Amino acid sequence: MSNEFLQEVLVGFSQAQKSLSPKWLYDERGSELFEKITKTEDYYVTRTEELIMRTVLGELPALLGPAPAITEFGSGAGIKSRRLIKAVEPSVYVMVDVADEFLKASAEALTSSFPAVDIHGVVADFLGEVTLPNAFLDAPSRVGFFPGSTIGNFEKGGAEAFLAGARRDLGEGSRFLLGADLVKDEDVLIAAYDDRQKLTAEFTLNVLRRINRELGASIDVDQFQHVALWNAEERRIEIYAEALSEQDVVIGGQTFHFSTGERLHVENSHKFTENSVARIAERAGWEVEMFWTDPKEWFGVFLFKA
Ligand code: TRP
Repeated sequence: MSNEFLQEVLVGFSQAQKSLSPKWLYDERGSELFEKITKTEDYYVTRTEELIMRTVLGELPALLGPAPAITEFGSGAGIKSRRLIKAVEPSVYVMVDVADEFLKASAEALTSSFPAVDIHGVVADFLGEVTLPNAFLDAPSRVGFFPGSTIGNFEKGGAEAFLAGARRDLGEGSRFLLGADLVKDEDVLIAAYDDRQKLTAEFTLNVLRRINRELGASIDVDQFQHVALWNAEERRIEIYAEALSEQDVVIGGQTFHFSTGERLHVENSHKFTENSVARIAERAGWEVEMFWTDPKEWFGVFLFKA
């Protein structure tokens, strides 16, 4: 892991626009911080999705039929998993996440809460290949679950590629339940990615601390600030760590220069419309079966059919 991390940091820091894959944000500390972000007033995403999911969970059992097998991508602490398990009583539940320690603990906690469900934890980066357990693949009714608008965190073309891969892995007759954040006023969006409690700022800076911790670097993290920008043309929030002063950073024997104001890109969060999601889904081999939203139309939950 740490070798892969080092390689990605060295490559990412060598580019003209320094950048790093968002998956490195989620070490133990990062995962904890992210859970806290989801509970803030400013981060409307989680609570809006929860509101919609109350309706969705009421309707899902009839839509999915008895004892479906579910794979959740990026399951985190498993809070959403619990609600879904209670509502649809699956036979098999697979949690896929990059944060291995965190995943293990979450899968164990779920197993003790739901002894009747066959729960699996798969450590994988769902940007790449994910090997699903046979217990899931052999089930007659297979459903993918991808909440939290993580679909917005892919690079260009990545959302479609991910959904096409999921369509292939889940197979004929499968379904996919997706949460996607919708385009809205810029000030609401910015507040969500630059919260007043500064948890998102700490979340961004934590990736620099992680580089120091795990790769023995000596980045002066106090000389960086978190920046969240709305890119209207690309319809996405862009998140950066921005250098407050000039700095040379030594990582793995290589020196990288940051000029004042230079940014390290750590994440994009694309925003969608009902139509833009439908178009991506269709190109990936899915058809929209259901769409639910909240009264302000801030967030969308979609059920796709293969
Ligand atoms: N899927 C989340 C989103 O795009 C991830 C996220 C929320 C995030 N806040 C963040 C990622 C801050 C990086 C930094 O809304």
